[in-house]
Amino acid sequence: MDVFDAIIGRRSCRKFLPGAVSDADIEKILEAGNWAPSPANQQPWEFVVITDPGIKARIFTESEACRKKLFERSGWKWLEKFSIDFVKEAAVIVAVVGDPRKSGADMFLDEGAGRGYLEGCSAAVQNMMLAAHALGLGSLWFSLFEAAAVRQVLGLDAGKDPVALLCIGRPGTVPASKRKDFREKTTYLR
Ligand SMILES: Cc1cc2nc3c(=O)[nH]c(=O)nc-3n(C[C@H](O)[C@H](O)[C@H](O)COP(=O)(O)O)c2cc1C
Repeated sequence: MDVFDAIIGRRSCRKFLPGAVSDADIEKILEAGNWAPSPANQQPWEFVVITDPGIKARIFTESEACRKKLFERSGWKWLEKFSIDFVKEAAVIVAVVGDPRKSGADMFLDEGAGRGYLEGCSAAVQNMMLAAHALGLGSLWFSLFEAAAVRQVLGLDAGKDPVALLCIGRPGTVPASKRKDFREKTTYLR
């Protein structure tokens, strides 16, 4: 698939059809993530590949609690009814786990220190979503969870940051998306 087609054609998938994702496809997706750029090439990510329905169910329960808490705090109507069943329906969830100690030289900046690991992990997630799309799979960057809860469910060390839970599976209906025109957001200094 052409890279521009992949970038523009990828959509967030919140409805997955039954069916497994092959180990070969999972490995291709992980390989794509692993080739992301990162500060000083510190590769601040680790991947946890979850297919165990019991673990998915525990993530669902924790995320439901998080969704309710965020609704109470924000009052945002969409959060009240937002279904996160896709957490249980996705064939695979890949947790992209960051190491905040691997942020590169930005640790010594006055502003924005220590965010390099997040930026590297985010690049990895995007690579993985594009790879999934190129393989005909749907994906969703899911972030509606408290890090401590996910750390406990996945047995992660206290110093690690579960940056994203990437839900992957055979895509059901995927809604359209739109963007503002980039020209409204671009300044040229020529
Ligand atoms: C950092 C980040 C966190 C996100 N978290 C969630 C989430 O928790 N649940 C969800 O349904 N979508 C989540 N999304 C997906 C966005 O809602 C989605 O990318 C956006 O609406 C644009 O739609 P598109 O990806 O189909 O173009 C997240 C995306 C990003 C980049």
